[in-house]
Amino acid sequence: MKNPIIVALDVPTAEQAERLAREIAPAVGAFKIGKELFVSAGPDIVRKIRATGASVFLDLKFHDIPNTVAKAVAAATRLDVQMLTIHTSGGSEMMCAADKSAQETAKATGTTAPLVLGVTVLTSASNATLAEIGCEPNTENQVLRLARLAVQSGLRGLVCSPLEIVALRKTIPPDVQLVTPGIRSGAEPADDQKRTLTPREAIQAGASWLVIGRPIYAATNPRAAAEKILESIR
Ligand code: C5P
Repeated sequence: MKNPIIVALDVPTAEQAERLAREIAPAVGAFKIGKELFVSAGPDIVRKIRATGASVFLDLKFHDIPNTVAKAVAAATRLDVQMLTIHTSGGSEMMCAADKSAQETAKATGTTAPLVLGVTVLTSASNATLAEIGCEPNTENQVLRLARLAVQSGLRGLVCSPLEIVALRKTIPPDVQLVTPGIRSGAEPADDQKRTLTPREAIQAGASWLVIGRPIYAATNPRAAAEKILESIR
């Protein structure tokens, strides 16, 4: 089994990210670079993490007009990331443009296209959050609706809450990869995550990848924390 742990490098500086990546790379499957690190350290941090040999998941959650998202996806593909995120609420035209851009750019540059992942409903959102922005006030229904639209639009991966994995596995084709944040063992604080499962529960439910941030990078010994989580799912 491949190592399904993706560690979120949610740290503010390139130095901290590189140090963390070097320390824990042997114990994890990939690193996620999100908004804080990318905005402060720039695209160079992607090149630096890729240079260690590790896979990179660029989690910038693009949501814009199709042309703009396609260009951002092309730029990310040229950086040689292995996964990236877009918001499914951007609609089918935006999602199709994103995936087409990944495929075409990879073909032109001779690399492998990144897996374009659709973000459905953020794990920090509740039914009340959906109601206040005018969506159907039921997170599970909204996730399934957006997931179906993403698959119809050609996406082969989704980001979802751990508590939605089982329902999604019943709804979407089995080859669609599910990437799941909101993972907590129960020993550490839930922080702002409202819907969590343990690593083992998430894998058993059908998650392909686990995105884990604070339980690893904020641990006293991040490498040991990653190894302990890996042990718990093997
Ligand atoms: O520290 P923690 O394990 O909560 O980190 C989860 C990571 O997954 C963060 O980088 C967060 O931005 C990301 N994420 C999330 N919920 C989503 C999509 C991404 O928590 N729906």
